[in-house]
Amino acid sequence: MTRPEPDIDRILTDAADRFGTPSYVYLTDLVEDRISALESAFGRWFRLSYAMKCNPNPALLSWLRSRVPFIDVSSGGEFLLAQSAGWEAERASFTGPAKREIELRTVIQAGLGELVVESLREARLADRIAAEAGRRQDVVIRIAPDRVPKGFGDQMAGRPSPFGIDIEEAEAALAEIIALPNLRVAGLHIYSGTQCLKPAAIVENWGIFIGIFRDLCAAHDLRPDRLIFGSGLGIPYHPGDQALNLDEVAAAAAPELDALKAEPRFSDTELVLELGRYLVGPAGYFVTRVTSTKDSRGARIAICDGGMNGHLAASGHFGMVLRRNYVIHRVGGGEGEEKIDISGPLCTSIDKLGTNVVLPRVEEGDLIAIHASGAYGPTSSPVNFISHPTPREVLVTGGQMTDATRIEGAGLRD
Ligand SMILES: Cc1ncc(COP(=O)(O)O)c(C=O)c1O
Repeated sequence: MTRPEPDIDRILTDAADRFGTPSYVYLTDLVEDRISALESAFGRWFRLSYAMKCNPNPALLSWLRSRVPFIDVSSGGEFLLAQSAGWEAERASFTGPAKREIELRTVIQAGLGELVVESLREARLADRIAAEAGRRQDVVIRIAPDRVPKGFGDQMAGRPSPFGIDIEEAEAALAEIIALPNLRVAGLHIYSGTQCLKPAAIVENWGIFIGIFRDLCAAHDLRPDRLIFGSGLGIPYHPGDQALNLDEVAAAAAPELDALKAEPRFSDTELVLELGRYLVGPAGYFVTRVTSTKDSRGARIAICDGGMNGHLAASGHFGMVLRRNYVIHRVGGGEGEEKIDISGPLCTSIDKLGTNVVLPRVEEGDLIAIHASGAYGPTSSPVNFISHPTPREVLVTGGQMTDATRIEGAGLRD
């Protein structure tokens, strides 16, 4: 049964009235639809793993717990957050280039599913800690390929990179890791590029992964339990961006994925698609209230209660080379159209959420909504800078709206 489209403006207005602004509003119905779409396109090959770095909100994490099989954590802190949201340690993998001893000890003692080993140093340390804990720890080894196709918003391989073991070193490193007595090599992992909206580039990248997985497993006679594919699936952020057609990606990837699954070495291997923003990004909105407007030398500016401090990514300072507006609308619509700049409350000229945005006439007290804000939101932003109120987080599940705010700062609230 298809659900009726949510009345976004009513939801955002209610959330702002009840919980205040600036706020992030996450709609779980939309996440549910995205999980279904991913399962229907890729379910015959992949199971999903949620990279919680993109949105570690505890209420969202516990909602996801019964809907996504695996979780990827990138710090000891994320591991503890996932556990308190009810995720069992065995369902977690742990990535990250700078894992500290205390983090490794904590997760290994707690029964982590898989450690994603990113260097020989980490493998040796984990081996020692596993011995002390009396465990044989499952690991998957992260490989950094020597090439990433064009079209990824951020790339973690194909050039000097802190992430994973460079493919050039992988054969020798694998031999050493396989020989460590307290680790068990359960598989391989590659995450080399993210935020890609080009189906051909995503499929080509997965093809690179498959080639590497095949060669390394053959060289070491591994029959892996698990191969983890960093999805790279991107989402539309800016006006004019085209959303990915998952069926098109699936159809183009099918020959190589089917061939891999058909090989006896991989007949019992579970393929995992690790992803963050694709699952939750489009299901979240950032809502900020206009505290004043100003006409300045021919430009009209809406000055809002939340800006770059609440939403660094929308201000263009989170990995964007050229600042481009996110999709933005005035909640509740309105008459006419005019160009307006949208700035935040900080005393710096880089605190801008939009330039020349075409909106109906905006006045003091209006709400502005920024789309595609469900990933890399509050925890990726300098929320304490200048001690304005930190963003509220609101979880909307069916008809229920709950305050799911995680970060309390020193800001003075209304
Ligand atoms: C290892 C790893 N896994 C998962 C992700 C999540 O990427 P995305 O949110 O683009 O799906 C990233 C992003 O940087 C990553 O580095």
